[in-house]
Amino acid sequence: MQLDDLYRQVIMDHYQHPRNQGSIGGETLSIDLKNPTCGDEITLQMKIEDGIVTDVRFQGAGCSISMASASMMTEAIKGKPVEEALALSEEFRKMMKGEEFDADRMGDIEALAGVCRFPARIKCATLAWHALERGADQKS
Ligand code: FES
Repeated sequence: MQLDDLYRQVIMDHYQHPRNQGSIGGETLSIDLKNPTCGDEITLQMKIEDGIVTDVRFQGAGCSISMASASMMTEAIKGKPVEEALALSEEFRKMMKGEEFDADRMGDIEALAGVCRFPARIKCATLAWHALERGADQKS
C-alpha cells in the first residue's frame, strides 16, 4: 500500500468515525469559528482543569479534511497539559507550511501533511487548531 493511500484511509476513518464529536454540556469554554473561504463552522468545547485539557469535543459541518483534523486534534490533546497542546499546534502549523516538523509527536496527524500542497485546503485543516489556540488564549 502506498503511503498516500494509508494517509487517505486514516483521514477517512476520522471523518467517518469522528472522535470526541458532540458537546460537553454545562459551563465550559466554547469557541465558534468559521472558515472564511467556505463558510463551514466548527464549535470546539474544552474543559481545562489545573492546566490540563480534561475534556474536549467538537461539533460542526465541514469537509473531510476539516472534520478529520478536528477529530485527530481532539484525540491528541485530551488529557494533555495545555502547553503540550499548544506545542502540538505549533508543529501542525509547521507541517501546513511544508516546514520540517516533529513527526514522532504528530502520530496519526501526519496523515494531513499532504494538505500543505493544496493551499485552498490549508484553512480547512487548520480550523480546529485555530479554535484550540483561541480557547487556550481565553483561558489564560
Ligand atoms: Fe469548508 Fe473545508 S471546504 S472546511
